[in-house]
Amino acid sequence: MSSTFCIVLLVVLSFSSVLSELCNPQDKQALLQIKKDLGNPITLSSWLPTTDCCNRTWQGVSCDTDTQTYRVNNLDLSDLNLPKPYPVPSSLANLPFLNFLYIGRTDNLVGPIPTAIAKLTQLRYLYITHTNVSGTIPDFLSQIKTLVTLDFSYNALSGTLPPSISSLPNLVGITFDGNRISGAIPDSYGSFSKLFTSMTISRNRLTGKIPATFANLNLAFVDLSRNMLEGDASVLFGSDKNTQKIQLAQNSLAFDLGKVGLSKNLNGLDLRNNRIYGTLPEGLTQLKFLHSLNVSFNNLCGEIPQGGNLQRFDVYAYANNKCLCGSPLPACT
Ligand SMILES: *[C@@H]1O[C@H](CO)[C@@H](O)[C@H](O)[C@H]1NC(C)=O
Ligand SMILES: *[C@@H]1O[C@H](CO)[C@@H](O)[C@H](O)[C@H]1NC(C)=O
Ligand SMILES: *[C@@H]1O[C@H](CO)[C@@H](O)[C@H](O)[C@H]1NC(C)=O
Repeated sequence: MSSTFCIVLLVVLSFSSVLSELCNPQDKQALLQIKKDLGNPITLSSWLPTTDCCNRTWQGVSCDTDTQTYRVNNLDLSDLNLPKPYPVPSSLANLPFLNFLYIGRTDNLVGPIPTAIAKLTQLRYLYITHTNVSGTIPDFLSQIKTLVTLDFSYNALSGTLPPSISSLPNLVGITFDGNRISGAIPDSYGSFSKLFTSMTISRNRLTGKIPATFANLNLAFVDLSRNMLEGDASVLFGSDKNTQKIQLAQNSLAFDLGKVGLSKNLNGLDLRNNRIYGTLPEGLTQLKFLHSLNVSFNNLCGEIPQGGNLQRFDVYAYANNKCLCGSPLPACT
């Protein structure tokens, strides 16, 4: 065999392997740039220019096989183990077909959520959790109309909540727990779409009152515990709602619990450590699914209604109130 023939054969072979590659060249270039922007971490050593990014060998990358466009639509950047601090790469903007972006469990990821994220106009699920990402939750998120879920739990985010995200038509839930978010919950959060059913903003520094506009919401899950909220929380309750879990522990909420309506689907109610007064609603005995309850450390009074699941909870679920009495607490006198 002549050497020219060998070279021609090699060129033809390598060319055909490029042709048979499913990975879109722009996506590959974007991914390699992201890897570079993160200092080529060992965790991304499977991202190689010579292999197909749509071949499951690229850690955390998958391509759209459903529509057979094979554009990168899922990216999981977790446990990156970065040796020194890096910002969230703006080069993420060059993956315009991303549907799902998960960035998690990476201490050395720092700086703000980059504006480049706004270019991901097909993004549905955005997770940035357990990192040291800081700054505010950006207003530009409201430009990504496709968003279904926003999870920014356990980062170093601060500032106030962005009012505009309530206009996102497909948003189903927000999870912002474990940050340093301060200020009041925007009134606009009472006008999330009908699809919106889950709000978790526990372990932050929220102040002020729960907006009266929340009467319009029908949340299945709400967790606002461990903040500094005050005043009335009765808008979260209602017999006309499908609420399953209400968690408001460790705030300074003060309202008459005896006057709230109860969703028949309620399975968890944690109101511990507030200033809630009044009596326990009789309707609690009718809740078939109620399996966790804690109303301790409040200003409640009167007899604990007898029946349903209420006597299955121990004394610590009811302790340290102003004058609650009756089983499982000592009898009323
Ligand atoms: C993925 O790439 C490797 C190495 O290039 C190859 O051996 C394997 O057959 C490929 N898998 C698929 C599913 O294409
Ligand atoms: C990230 O956060 C952890 C835990 O809060 C902290 O120990 C670490 O020093 C932080 N790293 C950077 C780079 O800020
Ligand atoms: C209720 O909350 C109190 C106060 O935080 C705690 O000591 C107790 O163990 C809790 N009880 C139950 C049953 O969750």
